Amino acid sequence: MEEKMESIRKTLKKYSQEHLLNGYSHLSEAKQKELLNQIENTDFELINNLYNKSKKEVDVRETNITPIEYLDKDKLNGYYRSFQETGERAIRNRELAAVTMAGGQGTRLGHKGPKGTFDIGLDSHKSLFELLSDNLKEQGKKYGVVIPWFIMTSKENNEATIEFFAKNKYFGYEKNKNIFFFEQGELPMIDTEGKILIGEDGLIKEAADGHGGIYEALVKNGMTKKMRELGVQWLFIGGVDNCLVKMVDPILMGIAIQKHVSAAGKSVVKANPQEKVGVFCRKNGRPSVVEYTEISEEMAQATDERGELIYGESHILCNLFNIDAVERMGSKPLPYHTAFKKATYIDKNGNTVVPDGPNAYKFEAFLFDAFGELDDMAILRVKREEEFAPVKNASGVDSPETARELYKKFYKV
Ligand code: UTP
Repeated sequence: MEEKMESIRKTLKKYSQEHLLNGYSHLSEAKQKELLNQIENTDFELINNLYNKSKKEVDVRETNITPIEYLDKDKLNGYYRSFQETGERAIRNRELAAVTMAGGQGTRLGHKGPKGTFDIGLDSHKSLFELLSDNLKEQGKKYGVVIPWFIMTSKENNEATIEFFAKNKYFGYEKNKNIFFFEQGELPMIDTEGKILIGEDGLIKEAADGHGGIYEALVKNGMTKKMRELGVQWLFIGGVDNCLVKMVDPILMGIAIQKHVSAAGKSVVKANPQEKVGVFCRKNGRPSVVEYTEISEEMAQATDERGELIYGESHILCNLFNIDAVERMGSKPLPYHTAFKKATYIDKNGNTVVPDGPNAYKFEAFLFDAFGELDDMAILRVKREEEFAPVKNASGVDSPETARELYKKFYKV
């Protein structure tokens, strides 16, 4: 033990993180063990690099951004039937799994508990999880299969999520038979001096590593292995907070299969050039998503000969991937982006600090940063009012109110 402690102290000194042991002697034995475990599993070199990077401006000059071609679901004409038949065959053949990313903190919404448990205010008072499960079950029935459902949680909300599902009898699914839960990875949060924060529980304050953590989490937790046992070839990966998400789309699948691409993503037309969304594009020739902060005003405004925005296909976190591609993407680290967030912590004197504004860096990988690994990707433009009703903010745009209205209109409830 002394030896282990000695080595931990040495590491902490090397990275100027000695404060992590300040409250150690006041912790219970179990917590002490957990803290040491956390320290041993922390990649201090990575944290150091991320901190140094957080102080630098991101240089995007090296990236050559060009438009990406897309298909419009409304204008497939004669091809529609053919894509549909191909996709339906694959679904009936049990080649599709649905994956829901539900590990986010939902800070903007401010709901206590996992975002998926949120009731958007329909007369039925169904939670987001139930709305998603309704659609999944209905689609499964249509094709005579049960579509396996994989739900990504985070350390923070895993227990509460599973408890909620158990209370609701997994909405008819059977745990570990056709519904599976797995946790995404985490990274420590740091202050503006690069010091790792200690949370109120006396342990390192960690936060989920972003939706880009999905690939690694699927592989590391044995989910892709499980999918292979079930005969799954394609994974639809979507967010928990889009109550109109269509996880089962034979057209999307048919396109991916017929075009021999390892992924297909859905887009909706950008509401206006200023809308704060990422759009599909190519970066140095590879499929990607460019954030609204990364393109110039001129690019955002640019239109083609039909008057449509050249960079107008919004990425709505509705993507289909071949299982081989997911496994490949899950074995390669993604870059991390830095977010400045509000985080309560214990200071060096043992006092709890509740900040008024952002005080700490959080590191997140983005799902679309892995798209560059794909051989190619098909983009399918769909209608916003049919497929995109996100619940992000407590009020105003993309709020429970707007999502509820869109849901009611589409499902006529
Ligand atoms: P958002 O980026 O909108 O984040 O996630 P959020 O956590 O829901 O909300 P804010 O930003 O804290 O207000 C889009 C989707 O990705 C999932 C979310 O659960 C949501 O379905 N996500 C996000 C994860 O699963 N893990 C993450 O680490 C981040």
